[in-house]
Amino acid sequence: MEASFKLVFEDVSVRPLRLRDWRELEEILLRERKWLEPWEATVPGGSRQLDVKGMVRSLLRQHRDGSAIAAIIEYKGKMVGQLNVANILYGSVSSGSIGYWISEKFAGKGITPTAVALIVDYMFIRLGLHRAEIAIRPENKASLRIVEKLGFRHEGTKHRYIHIDGEWRDHEIFGMTRDEAKGGVLARFAR
Ligand SMILES: CC(C)(COP(=O)(O)OP(=O)(O)OC[C@H]1O[C@@H](n2cnc3c(N)ncnc32)[C@H](O)[C@@H]1OP(=O)(O)O)[C@@H](O)C(=O)NCCC(=O)NCCS
Repeated sequence: MEASFKLVFEDVSVRPLRLRDWRELEEILLRERKWLEPWEATVPGGSRQLDVKGMVRSLLRQHRDGSAIAAIIEYKGKMVGQLNVANILYGSVSSGSIGYWISEKFAGKGITPTAVALIVDYMFIRLGLHRAEIAIRPENKASLRIVEKLGFRHEGTKHRYIHIDGEWRDHEIFGMTRDEAKGGVLARFAR
């Protein structure tokens, strides 16, 4: 994956995660436990202790080997959230799975859908991928609004798909293929 890129629309930008981000990320993640925990992936039987440096290192490894995009969402130049594309496969699948969160103070300003639109356009145009996927718990109304606003298609339900907040949780799967994003997802969203 490219070590450096910057995707920008108005006050929102998306740039690659760096190792030195871990302290600032840790500060936000610790401050916002209540806001984020219901939607955070957990390891079955594992500890819930945050290891932000370890998480950043692991994301950077995946970013380097091309199996993921590990990125930071900035608003007016300030770190406000995270955006990752995991499980990137090329060739006959050519797909990646998008995950995100934003700091509670910055919620409701349309920052995350803008960042997701930027990264989907990047996946299709720059990386030549064919499909973007987002998996969302049915209880997560705010996240369901993101896929609705961006025009993702509902593909179905995966039962007990991801371990979130201490349990295997059902997820609704949303997809978009490159042919469905003609003219650009950001251009469509901004209109
Ligand atoms: C889901 C999430 C990323 C949405 O990001 P966002 O930047 O707030 O997105 P939007 O501004 O488009 O708002 C989406 C919806 O959030 C809700 N919302 C708006 N303001 C809000 C606020 N201050 N607090 C909570 N939710 C709010 C509204 O339902 C809004 O939909 P609307 O635009 O139709 O009113 C964000 O709520 C979040 O980080 N939640 C915790 C982590 C999470 O759920 N991650 C996604 C896992 S799939």
